[in-house]
Amino acid sequence: MDITYKTTKDNVNWEEVRDVLQRVGMTDLSVEEQRLVFERSSNVVFAYDKDKIIGVSRALSDGFYQAVIYNVALDKEYRGHGIGRELIMRLVDQLKGQNIILYTHPRNVSMYEKFGFRRAKTAMVIFDKSEHDRQWREASGFLMPEGYRFIDEYDREDMKRGRTLLETSGKKK
Ligand SMILES: CC(C)(COP(=O)(O)OP(=O)(O)OC[C@H]1O[C@@H](n2cnc3c(N)ncnc32)[C@H](O)[C@@H]1OP(=O)(O)O)[C@@H](O)C(=O)NCCC(=O)NCCS
Repeated sequence: MDITYKTTKDNVNWEEVRDVLQRVGMTDLSVEEQRLVFERSSNVVFAYDKDKIIGVSRALSDGFYQAVIYNVALDKEYRGHGIGRELIMRLVDQLKGQNIILYTHPRNVSMYEKFGFRRAKTAMVIFDKSEHDRQWREASGFLMPEGYRFIDEYDREDMKRGRTLLETSGKKK
């Protein structure tokens, strides 16, 4: 397999970028919207098989302190050969010295641990793109149950408003 990587936004076929993300179910944007999203990102990686884009990733960064990674996606037939690692680590290399955050599908948690990421206990999100998107993320396990508390938080005064894990799972009323 002769895969090459590109980290610039020049002469990119944005339809191919949108198509890669669409095939993995990670976008409902138009080609033009997808172009804007990537062009406004500070860092990008594109994986090519010859002239065709088969994998993408991008990051938003202030160039100094904080960064966030999004849209890591690779066509199915190319998986399992280290290309995903390249899509991620080539971004991480570009962001060296900065704090990097990302959220991912629960099935990828152990993969990111392999790349040096740690789970963040206090990450907070507002999924406001659409109700459908929020519901999907809730059902897929991106979000803790509403009001979720870790066991070491049960007795904290400031956390009393939330429910415990036992309560949210319905085992305790
Ligand atoms: C995530 C994705 C990019 C990985 O691509 P890939 O090329 O198959 O990954 P690699 O072959 O580079 O794997 C690198 C390492 O991660 C491991 N790995 C890959 N996917 C994994 C997963 N889902 N869970 C745990 N480990 C995983 C591999 O076993 C490999 O480990 P090793 O170095 O110890 O052998 C690809 O599966 C994908 O596009 N998935 C759909 C979209 C998605 O979920 N993107 C992430 C959203 S943030």
